[in-house]
Amino acid sequence: MYWHILGAGAIGCLWAAQLCQAGHPVSLILRNPSRLDSFDGQLTLEHDGQCRSFQLAGCLADSCGPIDRLLLTTKAYDVVEALHGVAHQLRPGAQIVLLHNGMGPQQQVPELYPAQQVWSATSTDGAWLREPFHVVWAGRGETRIGRFDAPGEAQLPDGLDGLELQLLADPAIELSLWRKLAINCAINPLTALHGCRNGELLSTPQIHRQMQQVCAEIEQLCQQRQLKLFPDGVLAAAEQVARGTAANYSSMLQDRRNGRRTEIDYITGYLLDSARQLGLALPENERLFKQFNSKKTNR
Ligand code: PAF
Repeated sequence: MYWHILGAGAIGCLWAAQLCQAGHPVSLILRNPSRLDSFDGQLTLEHDGQCRSFQLAGCLADSCGPIDRLLLTTKAYDVVEALHGVAHQLRPGAQIVLLHNGMGPQQQVPELYPAQQVWSATSTDGAWLREPFHVVWAGRGETRIGRFDAPGEAQLPDGLDGLELQLLADPAIELSLWRKLAINCAINPLTALHGCRNGELLSTPQIHRQMQQVCAEIEQLCQQRQLKLFPDGVLAAAEQVARGTAANYSSMLQDRRNGRRTEIDYITGYLLDSARQLGLALPENERLFKQFNSKKTNR
């Protein structure tokens, strides 16, 4: 079944290749004419040292034709604007799947587009771009997909059959998104501010103490919101991820180093907004957020 994908980063390209491989036609909606010019209609998927190429269409929002199924894999801060850009092409009842780091748009989009069916997803697949439109699937993970606006429903969007990706219909997607948010709050700002690999959060005592404080505050918020995220607590879960990805540079550090805007407003920013609504102060997270925003060029 036909899919449109908006956001040709690593995850967007991974999904495009997976959908093609499973026999679903795909169009990549590209942001501007120069990006479209740079796309020769071929996407390469590299996995376990083997490369496979797929032919697919590229288009701009105005020429992509009617959309029945849309996967949005832009950065969190681009989701709403990107969606507005293709809104005129959405068929009534079209399926929209949001897959990005951070939180905010998952709640906003169903409110803005009540005529569409909106799913939110979170993934632990590891992927990176060797070059534009050449994706390396570096680590198999799982993708949980569910309706933020309809908790309890456990149905995947249609048109995802035959994918090699591990997909799980999640009736409690908000909780899964909070899990990912907590991990991102514990790892991303600290690694980005200290310019360190994920593993150094554990091996550098001063940074580890900050990580402990960040996690203790998240724990406090979760208690107030009655969110039970991890059986052994946020710190243990974040330490496990930092250990498992010890050699990696977090996505936020990479964004910062490349002079790109980061997703801090949708990660720590979302956490702080959520705490503020309950009248709760999270001083260490607040301090990190301010420190981040004071270095404007690096946002
Ligand atoms: O954003 C990232 O880099 C990743 O989500 C995570 C889990 C922090 C590991 O690097």
